[in-house]
Amino acid sequence: MLRPDSTIYEALGGDQAIRRLVETFYPKVKVHPLIGPLFPEDIDPVIEKQYMFLSQFFGGPQLYSDEYGHPMMRARHMPFPITRDHADAWLSCMAGALEELDIDPDLSHFVLQRLSGPAYHFVNTGNEEE
Ligand code: HEM
Repeated sequence: MLRPDSTIYEALGGDQAIRRLVETFYPKVKVHPLIGPLFPEDIDPVIEKQYMFLSQFFGGPQLYSDEYGHPMMRARHMPFPITRDHADAWLSCMAGALEELDIDPDLSHFVLQRLSGPAYHFVNTGNEEE
């Protein structure tokens, strides 16, 4: 569980836990019919960047900013058409990864809440049928 005075980073288990989460998440993304095709064949560099980004996003060391400067994540996602369905799919892959790693359900719920902010913020186009 998440104590009021701890970060998500600590609650999940720190550096290696974030790495494990990201390494469990991307195989699900890759095989997802909607969002998988947006990602490059070689997913390893994406895994590395996401590990660095989520470490800092969850309150751990500023690995991503130290290497790449200001994240500007919405701008970095602009080259890709992202609809609400894409955001839902991304979050469902993350939910699957948290479940696979047996993360406490309350903590998982909190993590997904934190990620849904940026996920829906990155939506930059409507669904086809809209
Ligand atoms: C809303 C659904 C999302 C989609 C469809 C999506 C898709 C993508 C794609 C296609 C890339 C580029 C991969 C490449 O070619 O290198 C990317 C990069 C990245 N995404 Fe997302 N993403 C989503 C949400 C998120 C969220 C919620 C976060 C974190 C809170 C995130 C963090 C990142 C990071 C850190 C990178 C690497 C940026 C870099 O190149 O430095 N993404 N994403």
